[in-house]
Amino acid sequence: MSEIKLHRNTGLDLVRATEAAAISAARWMGLGRRDEADQAASTAMLRALDNLELDGRIVVGEESRVDSFPEVRAGRPVGTGRGMAVDVVIDPIDGRRLLAQGRAGAVSVAAVAARGAMWSPSPAAYMEKLVVNRAAAAALVPECLDAPVAWTLALIARAKGKTARDLVVFMLDRPRHSDLLDEIRAAGARVMLTDDGDISGAALAAAPDGPVDLLIGVGGTAEGVIAACAVKALGGGMLARLAPQSAVERQALAAAGIDTRRILSCEDIVAGNQVFFVATGITDGLLLAGVGFAHDRASTNSLILRCETRTRRSIHAEHLITAI
Ligand code: FBP
Repeated sequence: MSEIKLHRNTGLDLVRATEAAAISAARWMGLGRRDEADQAASTAMLRALDNLELDGRIVVGEESRVDSFPEVRAGRPVGTGRGMAVDVVIDPIDGRRLLAQGRAGAVSVAAVAARGAMWSPSPAAYMEKLVVNRAAAAALVPECLDAPVAWTLALIARAKGKTARDLVVFMLDRPRHSDLLDEIRAAGARVMLTDDGDISGAALAAAPDGPVDLLIGVGGTAEGVIAACAVKALGGGMLARLAPQSAVERQALAAAGIDTRRILSCEDIVAGNQVFFVATGITDGLLLAGVGFAHDRASTNSLILRCETRTRRSIHAEHLITAI
C-alpha cells in the first residue's frame, strides 16, 4: 500500500472536482432547497472525478446518513479506471443546510490516498472527534476521549503556551453536545458553536496558525475520514472513536464486526503519507471564501494539501462558466 506513490499533481487534478461541485452548489445558495443543491454538486463532482486518470473507489459514503445523495456511496468506482489505485472520500457539500440558508461555511471537499490506506467502517454514520494542530499533537493521549474535558483542555493549552481561557473550541451545535458544552464553558474556554461543517472545523483546528485551537464532538464518519486526511497533511493530531447515535446504527456495526470502543489516531484512519486533501469554498467562511459570479465567469477559492511534502497551497481561479 505505502509503496504506491501518488503523482504530485494529484491535488491539482482533484481540485477541479471540488471547484465544479462548489460552482454548481453555489447557484443554490439561500434557496432553501438542500437536496437539489446536493444532487447538483454531487453530480458535478462525480462527473469531474470520473474524467481523472484514476482507478479510485469511494471508501466511506454517506449512505448511512438520512437524505444523502445515493451515488456518494462506499464502493462506487471513481475515475477512468486506468490510473493509480486510490481510496477516495468526498463530500460535495459539507454544510448542506448552511448553503440552503445562505449561511457562511459551506465547502466542497475531497481526499485521496493510496489504495488500502483509508479506514472504512462502512455502516458507521457518526464518529467522535478531537483535533488539534501540530503544536498540541504530541499532547493528545487516548485518555483525552474519556477524561473530564477540563483535563484535556489543560493539556492542549499547556502544549500551546496558553491557558484554558485562551482556547477557542469548535463544536457543532447539537443537543448531544449539551453536557460537553457545559463542561467546556465551566473550564473557561471560549467556544465557536456552528450549525454545520465539522470538516472545516477540523481543518481550522489543525492549521498551524488558525483562529481555532481544537475541534471536539460527534459528527459524520465520512467527514471524519476526510478530516483525518486534512489533519495529517497539516501535521496536526486527531483522536476518533465511532459514536453510533441509534440502535439501528449500533446493530449494523455489531453485524459488521466493527469494534466501537477502539480509539483511533490519524494514522489509523489514513495510513502513510500519500494523501491529498482539497476543499473549495461554496459560501464565504473562515476556512475559504465562497464562489462569486460575474458576467460569464465564476471565481473559486480552494485549498490543496499534500501530506508527503506538507505543502499547503491556496488557489484562486476564474472559470468561464460555459467551459465547466
Ligand atoms: P451535510 O452537509 O452532509 O448535511 O453535513 C453537515 C454536517 O454538519 C457535517 O459537517 C457533520 O459531520 C454532520 O453534519 C453532523 O451530522 P448531524 O447533522 O446529523 O448532526
